[in-house]
Amino acid sequence: MESVEEYHAARAMLEWQVELGATEAIGDVPVDRYGLKGKVAAVPGAAAVVAPVVAPVVVEKVDPVAVAVAAAKGAGSLEALRAALGAFEHCELKKGARNLVFSDGVAGARVMIIGEAPGRDEDREGRPFVGRAGQMLDRMLAAIDLGRDGSVYITNVLPWRPPHNRDPLPGEIAMLMPFVKRHVELAEPEVIVLMGNIACQGVLGRRGITRLRGTWERALGKPVLPMFHPVDLLRKPASKREAWADLLSLKARLGGSA
Ligand code: URA
Repeated sequence: MESVEEYHAARAMLEWQVELGATEAIGDVPVDRYGLKGKVAAVPGAAAVVAPVVAPVVVEKVDPVAVAVAAAKGAGSLEALRAALGAFEHCELKKGARNLVFSDGVAGARVMIIGEAPGRDEDREGRPFVGRAGQMLDRMLAAIDLGRDGSVYITNVLPWRPPHNRDPLPGEIAMLMPFVKRHVELAEPEVIVLMGNIACQGVLGRRGITRLRGTWERALGKPVLPMFHPVDLLRKPASKREAWADLLSLKARLGGSA
């Protein structure tokens, strides 16, 4: 440091950076700050100046998954779970979404459907599966006499729309799955249908819907059936044959009636 003025200018700059949120200084070479403690800097023409010791800014690291687990566990009802999700501040998607998309259909229905994430229409309305994919889902369910007006309860892995409908990131899925698990506990369905790869990723920890679909597994304490997502069927109508087989399997599991 050449002069007292430079020292004060450097200190003001440092304080400004700390105010802006800088938590760590990265230099080309390591600096032993403890070694500098109390070191006297010789300043020509001025009294000796003690090099400042800036207290380290301690940033507490939050584990969003642990926060989600605690928040979800504390919810004793579906309404409380919705409120807990609404108060969860660790997912960036929330900032870009218009609405929290929690569920539709009838809580307590025998069938719970878990989809991926809201799209534009769902984000606007605050209800899952209301756009084109939702209309396709309604047709699929109606084909086996199911519907959201009585026999089905619907939610998604993510309650907020990802920007440009991009795939959810693994970290986003991980921090929102505790809410999905609690959602299943509170809704108490008899069986769960996993719509598409993201639902399989969240619930089963695996992707590959073409291989997974149609085979019942056990997860979240329930029988679960992976199925092609309605969007898959819109993109590739030939897959409707497999989807129909899976719907019949669901109907059989329910004893032929909803
Ligand atoms: N796709 C989904 O997986 N969920 C929705 O709510 C809408 C589209």
